[in-house]
Amino acid sequence: MNKTKFMTAALLVLTVSMPGMAQTQDAESNRGAELLMPLKKNLKQALMAGMQEGPVNAISVCKDQAPAITAALAAEGVEIGRSSHRLRNPDNSAPEWANKVLKTYLNDETDRAPRVVSLANNREGYVEPITIKPLCLACHGDNLAPDIAAQIQVMYPEDKATGFRLDDLRGVYWVEYPAAE
Ligand code: HEC
Repeated sequence: MNKTKFMTAALLVLTVSMPGMAQTQDAESNRGAELLMPLKKNLKQALMAGMQEGPVNAISVCKDQAPAITAALAAEGVEIGRSSHRLRNPDNSAPEWANKVLKTYLNDETDRAPRVVSLANNREGYVEPITIKPLCLACHGDNLAPDIAAQIQVMYPEDKATGFRLDDLRGVYWVEYPAAE
């Protein structure tokens, strides 16, 4: 294989191996994806750190840190969050435009493509689906350990976020920002 061919092949591999990027090639959606990245990363880190001392402890870590992490990432003109059709924390409700996208995911389980949405006042929104991974089942599954179930009941008396199975749609990440000129 000559050098040019090799480079082309390498580039192709790079392009197809970037998860979730297939539908998000245009500049706007990359902006949304970029804004979401630190939220996803920081939440995951907090969860992993909390889980080191067991899932019951991780529930309080999540309760204290998830809202703080989310609030810290909202910047000038940028609103950001995660939400669900079955909320654990009622404060995590999403704006109407993001709920509409969530509904389209719920209505078609083959559709998990991120979305860019044009909003009023020259703003734009971006949504990504969140699905259930093995790690999530301890606190969102249909067979919770009794101590975990009890702790959730105490901290979130209105919890609707259990009973999920692997790969189920858990909710969405959403972000709203000024549209590019
Ligand atoms: C240790 C228990 C625990 C684990 C494991 C866990 N979560 Fe949660 N999750 C929570 C708690 C507690 C909240 C509420 C946080 C808050 O008050 O904002 C929550 C909230 C959420 C929310 C926000 C919407 C809502 O219902 O309030 C989403 C989305 C979510 N979790 C997805 C996941 C996913 C995906 C995974 C696996 C990668 C996961 N969770 C793993 C405990 C957990």
